[in-house]
Amino acid sequence: LRDINEFPIDFMFGGAIAANQAEGGYGKDGKGASTADIQPYLPNADKKDLHFNNMDSKTLDDYINGDYYYPKREGVHFYDRYKEYIDKLAKMHCQTLRLSVAWTRIFPNGNDDKPNKKGLEFYDHLFQYMKEKNIKPIVTICHYETPLNLILHEGGWVNPKIIDWFYRYGKLIIDRYHQYVKYWIIINQINLIHLEAFASLGILSDKVYNYQQAKFQAIHHEFVASAKLTKYMHENYYGLKAGVMLADSTLSPATPKPADIKLTFKRNRMQYFYADVLLQGEYPKYALNYFKDNNIHINWTNNELELIRKNVADFLCVSYYYSNTIDASKDTMDPATFETNPYLTANEWGWAINPSGLYVCMSEYWDRYHVPMMIGENGFGFNDVLTPDNKIHDQYRIDYTRDHLKAILEAINDGADIFAYCSWAPFDIVSAGTAEMGKRYGFIYVNYDNYGKGDGELIEKDSFDWYRNIILSRGNDL
Ligand code: BG6
Repeated sequence: LRDINEFPIDFMFGGAIAANQAEGGYGKDGKGASTADIQPYLPNADKKDLHFNNMDSKTLDDYINGDYYYPKREGVHFYDRYKEYIDKLAKMHCQTLRLSVAWTRIFPNGNDDKPNKKGLEFYDHLFQYMKEKNIKPIVTICHYETPLNLILHEGGWVNPKIIDWFYRYGKLIIDRYHQYVKYWIIINQINLIHLEAFASLGILSDKVYNYQQAKFQAIHHEFVASAKLTKYMHENYYGLKAGVMLADSTLSPATPKPADIKLTFKRNRMQYFYADVLLQGEYPKYALNYFKDNNIHINWTNNELELIRKNVADFLCVSYYYSNTIDASKDTMDPATFETNPYLTANEWGWAINPSGLYVCMSEYWDRYHVPMMIGENGFGFNDVLTPDNKIHDQYRIDYTRDHLKAILEAINDGADIFAYCSWAPFDIVSAGTAEMGKRYGFIYVNYDNYGKGDGELIEKDSFDWYRNIILSRGNDL
């Protein structure tokens, strides 16, 4: 019988990154531009404001042609330095690394006739090297890296033609890497259409008649594309697993008032919606009512609904960072409305830390879906400062990670099937939301600043040894 203080023997500890935040190598070896490549660093922007969320043509034009520094074009030079990073992860005994393939390395414009050989070769080498180092890749097929061409000229995910372009790209990398990769997460944080709308759906708000409707139409196309790839995996490769990913956004009622409890319930259910469709195979009635109430009409065919019904995903990947509350006197069904929780402490970016919320949400996901689950992201973003002797004493990150791992272990002990923990991000990379380098998550400090300057030295923070020991003791030292 397993010791309840230890994680299960086949549980994988590791980290998670995304191609666009780490690789750099902009334009190199034939890579095309993605949404991420035109996200500027805005030093004076409010850290709590995601300036890259809803996008119109004018802002996009300014971002493309303005005089800006674009951090994601450099990333942390993972494209050229991947061996150094993988070596460090191997030294930490990481068993897995969740990473994404950049669509624009493989199809630079998203819809090219032929794939880019050099782009494929990069991932050939990377996966081979990871294999030598015993680190299993978990791959996200699309992590906020939609080809810019498809946005400028094809309307992004709102155009049904993207389903086939995405399918062709997904199929190609599944065929090529199925021997290295068992777990495939098809779309990063599919539910985050209120915070990362542009990055995930690539819709320009002024180019569509009804923005809300366009978002859900685009989501429908992501559902169809996911079902098609899931079908392909199941029909062609024994043992491959298709995953749906949610950024946990479940809320608590601000008070025990019945109105707060009811609105919280309805809001949470619209977050479950995405996984309800992809894991249970149907648009639920509450979602159809939501669309009706909000004048949202989605075009779908019976064949598409049948495809979704017959090809449900195998596992749920969850990212978890913070939690908020709902006050029915101020908030509505609009996911952008919520209140901070006065009982929690937030970081500089307004992300309120709540480890027990991770126990609750993972247990709830388990009770609802009964499919294997993994933590695809969880971490503490902080402006770490090097001490004069070149060290980072990040006890705050150790405390954060310990408390969240304890919450996961408790959920496992109460029955949840959780097979991996991928800390975001095991080495510092460019932030997704604000494109800063100064919002650091790593156990490994990467010496580049917000303008990509620095010698790029990799420095083990205090949390590096701590995480290594946790992995080696399978959590028994928590
Ligand atoms: C998730 C994204 O939303 O949060 C990651 O999938 C991202 O890409 C992570 O990096 C942390 O957000 P940020 O803005 O602090 O980088």
